[in-house]
Amino acid sequence: MAEKILIVDDDLDTLKLVGLILQRQGYEIIAANTGSQGLAKAASDRPDLILLDVMMPDMEGFEVTRRLRASPDLGHIPIIMFTAKTMVDDKVTGFEAGADDYMTKPTHPAELVSRVKALLARSGASAAARPSAAPTERAHIVGVLGAKGGLGASTLALNLGTASAQAGEDTVLCDLRPGQGTLSLQLGFTQSPAVGLLLSKSVGEITTRAIETQITTHARSGLRLLMSSPLPSEASLASAAAQAEQLVRQTATMCKVLVLDLGAGFTDINKKVLPLCDRFVLIVEPVRLTLTMGKAILSSLETIGLNPARVDVAMVNRVRSSLQVAWQQAEQLLGHNIATVITSAPELAYQAAEACVPMTIMQPDSLLTDQVNKLAEIVVQGKRGGSALTT
Ligand SMILES: Nc1ncnc2c1ncn2[C@@H]1O[C@H](COP(=O)(O)OP(=O)(O)OP(=O)(O)O)[C@@H](O)[C@H]1O
Ligand SMILES: [Mg+2]
Repeated sequence: MAEKILIVDDDLDTLKLVGLILQRQGYEIIAANTGSQGLAKAASDRPDLILLDVMMPDMEGFEVTRRLRASPDLGHIPIIMFTAKTMVDDKVTGFEAGADDYMTKPTHPAELVSRVKALLARSGASAAARPSAAPTERAHIVGVLGAKGGLGASTLALNLGTASAQAGEDTVLCDLRPGQGTLSLQLGFTQSPAVGLLLSKSVGEITTRAIETQITTHARSGLRLLMSSPLPSEASLASAAAQAEQLVRQTATMCKVLVLDLGAGFTDINKKVLPLCDRFVLIVEPVRLTLTMGKAILSSLETIGLNPARVDVAMVNRVRSSLQVAWQQAEQLLGHNIATVITSAPELAYQAAEACVPMTIMQPDSLLTDQVNKLAEIVVQGKRGGSALTT
């Protein structure tokens, strides 16, 4: 099947000329002569690549690019900006808006064709590289988010992923905390920059092939890992939200269950990635301040297009009992029911860290393992609720 290319340009001569050159190469061409028509055709025709003019009367190409990148369904489409402008500043604006490549008019047909071919190959959209998985075959995605830092999000994500892998599901655990990744340290791997390397690429370069080379398998659990390094120099990648979204979408075509360690709070990455989660676990503790932060997160979910029904609250209970808020009061403060409690198990946490294994493997008969398995039944194996990726 021929790849589809959408050309958006208000100049009809350019549309015809560029369309003809690319048609001769066997591509299917769709044309739009305004920015808003370009957006509409991107949504209705789902092109494999977009060639976009910058100067258009109704909407500049930069704005079209920003809107495309903000869309959960269209954000991954490779974009080549195509313009008469030659100023370096415009290139910078184009790349900042999310363009993958930039060409100035007039351009040589051979250069146009080779740039289009190269970008399609990198994006994995060419017929040979296109993954065969239909949206319904994508992984079940489970996000794990702390109401604040340090509550045990990484530990729970690791143990939920392990429960899923041990139940025989092909599971990938992705640590989406560039610059603050702890998974590699927890499991005794050398500091792995895998996620950082992927997030440094352009959206079109984050293909299943590129991701596969960064996956490490943890032998004891059978879990496949995409790790972030704890190197502070990678922290700036926390704003690479379009790349993180592409990483999640592509990885979801490579496994059956995808568990995401999202850390805490509505980071740029989390705002993009949370709507892709079929379910997500919000971690709180029985402390008034944390519960208030949890409530704020729950009441903001709809602003990022997420149905609060997809959330299960887990209360990790590491607070001295004399200082705890009671369960019922905690649910009141939160305005949401609490699905499960994970008990404090500091010795088990220590032993597991020393042995570089998840707590559930260290002590399969412990209360904590039971609690994690129960939560995994709800959020991973239960697969309740609809898939965000298929709606
Ligand atoms: N149920 C538990 N009982 C005892 N200790 C635990 C439990 N869960 C996690 N811990 C310990 O708490 C510490 C913090 O856990 P973890 O790194 O998972 O938190 P986090 O929410 O991911 O933190 P950050 O916000 O830094 O990403 C770790 O030392 C971990 O071993
Ligand atoms: Mg963490």
